[in-house]
Amino acid sequence: MKILIIGGGGREHAIAWKLSQSAKVHEIYCAPGNAGTALENKCKNIDITNYDELINFAVEEKIDITIVGPEVPLIDGIVDRFKERGLKIFGPSKAAAKLEGSKAFSKEFMKKYGVRTAEYEVFYNPKEAAEYLFRASYPIVIKADGAAAGKGVVIANNFEEAKKCIESFMIEDVFKGSGKKIIIEEFLDGVEASILAVTDGNVIVPFLSSKDHKRIYDKDKGPNTGGMGAICPNPYCTEEVLKEFKENILKPTLRGFKEEKMDYIGIVFFGVMICKKGVYLLEYNVRMGDPETQAVLPLMETDFTHVILEALNKNLSELKIKWKNKYSCCVVAASKGYPEEYKTGFNIGNINKIRGKVFTAGAVFKDGEIKTSGGRVLSVVSLEDNPSRAREVAYGDLEKIEFENIYYRKDIGN
Ligand code: AMP
Ligand code: GLY
Repeated sequence: MKILIIGGGGREHAIAWKLSQSAKVHEIYCAPGNAGTALENKCKNIDITNYDELINFAVEEKIDITIVGPEVPLIDGIVDRFKERGLKIFGPSKAAAKLEGSKAFSKEFMKKYGVRTAEYEVFYNPKEAAEYLFRASYPIVIKADGAAAGKGVVIANNFEEAKKCIESFMIEDVFKGSGKKIIIEEFLDGVEASILAVTDGNVIVPFLSSKDHKRIYDKDKGPNTGGMGAICPNPYCTEEVLKEFKENILKPTLRGFKEEKMDYIGIVFFGVMICKKGVYLLEYNVRMGDPETQAVLPLMETDFTHVILEALNKNLSELKIKWKNKYSCCVVAASKGYPEEYKTGFNIGNINKIRGKVFTAGAVFKDGEIKTSGGRVLSVVSLEDNPSRAREVAYGDLEKIEFENIYYRKDIGN
């Protein structure tokens, strides 16, 4: 088979690496990919991001399956457009991708089908939102409805903070439309888990659980990032937690998919909060997580190509995914300054000298060297017999990696 992967982050590198191990796969194109995907077995980068050009490429090259990494093309409806041209693509339709594209839509869906989630209200008017917030108890969570590059959620500790947030989201319109509509939500106290799963619309098969580390600094301090590291499995996802997740989140979600006749073949990412009072769904994402994917896929024993094919053939009820009895630790190395201002263009050294695996993100080939080109530059992933050894190996590897202004958290998986 010939595969096309859309995207260019660490997640897409991990997907390309995993699929390249399949005997079924002959060639992989990454659009646009990055320095690491270009080096992977069977892989080639192509410099295309425009949807029409991607469709033409898939037709001309007789691509068997296209896999979409990031949410934006999914929310834009790329899957519907590929299908109109008779192309096979792994991902939800535009209508289903609204589960990530609009928080109000996804909360409504959760409420309608009894998926356990925080209490909430939707507001379109800043004055009404402010009146509600004046009487509310704190902390409280305020969310922009639409895409906001990871900056659309504020946990307000008092009315002053809440008012400031309303002003910036709804009046100053900092997210250019995405924050005109907001959700005000009950604050949930607990630990988070990322549960990726695959669906064919008839069943949802969960992967091993994982844990992201979203804040920039150790001990979960500082601003949110795309994710600074991940471990798999998530130690908080006990049998009991997973049982509750299946009953109160997964099953009602599937019922919703069926009743709404959602055209959804792809990944469902459940962002959950494990609280004393139970397991709650914070959000759906309609794609794989980054960096979660880098931690989860190395543990998958079953051929990932086979998993995707079974989903596309609506045959997932027959599938049992096998997992390695190991533990992974993925630590992201970023450019100092991320998620705000940072410098790029520095040579990256010693990528070949490590024991685990390197997945690159903000890294490009230039003048015969691999250079930094983004905030999250690369991640180092280890796979070991126990979690503490996995951490030790990942950090041992990171010490060998060299680039100017390297920054990483020291406490991933602690
Ligand atoms: P979201 O984009 O909905 O995942 O929110 C981003 C982050 O905000 C989550 O990963 C949580 O850390 C936090 N968060 C979101 N909703 C809540 C909530 N209801 N209670 C507490 N924290 C939340
Ligand atoms: N790491 C969280 C996400 O991919 O949304």
